[in-house]
Amino acid sequence: MTTENTSTAGPVTGPPEAAEAAEAPGPGVPDLLAVLDAVDNLPESVEMRRRTYGLLGLGAGMSVVDVGCGAGRAAGEMASLVAERGSVLGVDLNEDMVAAARARWPEADFRVGDARALPLEGSSLDAYRAEKVLHDLPDPAAALAEAYRVLAPGGRIVLLGQDWDGWVVDSANRDLTLRILRSWSDTIPSPDSARGFRRLLREAGFADVASEARCVQFTDRAFMPAVVGAAGAAEASGAADPDDVRMWLTEQQERMDSGGFLALAPFVVASARKP
Ligand SMILES: C[S@@+](CC[C@H](N)C(=O)[O-])C[C@H]1O[C@@H](n2cnc3c(N)ncnc32)[C@H](O)[C@@H]1O
Repeated sequence: MTTENTSTAGPVTGPPEAAEAAEAPGPGVPDLLAVLDAVDNLPESVEMRRRTYGLLGLGAGMSVVDVGCGAGRAAGEMASLVAERGSVLGVDLNEDMVAAARARWPEADFRVGDARALPLEGSSLDAYRAEKVLHDLPDPAAALAEAYRVLAPGGRIVLLGQDWDGWVVDSANRDLTLRILRSWSDTIPSPDSARGFRRLLREAGFADVASEARCVQFTDRAFMPAVVGAAGAAEASGAADPDDVRMWLTEQQERMDSGGFLALAPFVVASARKP
């Protein structure tokens, strides 16, 4: 998931539902929200979110930021963990996301802001969290330098994200699928940021760096915008013939219709401490 995803959708035609999505003008927050909601409700996502809260060591009275907070689910959940004396701020570059977060999670604060220049004092936080965000940034190291600035000594940071180069989609045509998925990840500013989390945290000066991996399975129709986006990217870049792209989309649509669709994605959870 990336805010850039559906902007790559080109003039792909295929199954009616896919064609409709492919011709959509842009990502649109409602579309992204629908995908995020579907992903965030998966049992694997629930487990990974809980794990991030545990790694942050959240407790009453702590001050926390969730960067690239989207519609605010994690910020809202963390607000109950830090209780009344604590504070949780969700920051997102997208005003519409912040508006959605405010409407959904009144127990947290939300502000429009950039991961690279957070609206926070230096050394002011106990915990920093960013989920599915660093791939959207051309320079993830800049966000981690900012994380280091805002955390107090001893403060903890947790990153969670997917590696877009590691996605697989079940298809009868492996070579075409590889080309389509590669075209897709080529549209993402930092598709491989998650595999770099440990290194990036070390390079930013953090201590006690650790990471864990998960694999998440997607079988849901809600994943269709990503499939359409990948197909559009392949057609736009010339990586695949338009007829082949149409055939691939039809195959994926049929698999979704019959309950046979499957995609897998590697996720990394990394944590560290500011010395
Ligand atoms: C894929 S969504 C993930 C949202 C949420 N963290 C979640 O896991 O559901 C990525 C979010 O990062 C935000 N974002 C992208 N670049 C950003 C930046 N430079 N600073 C802050 N937020 C950013 C996007 O607006 C979007 O809401």
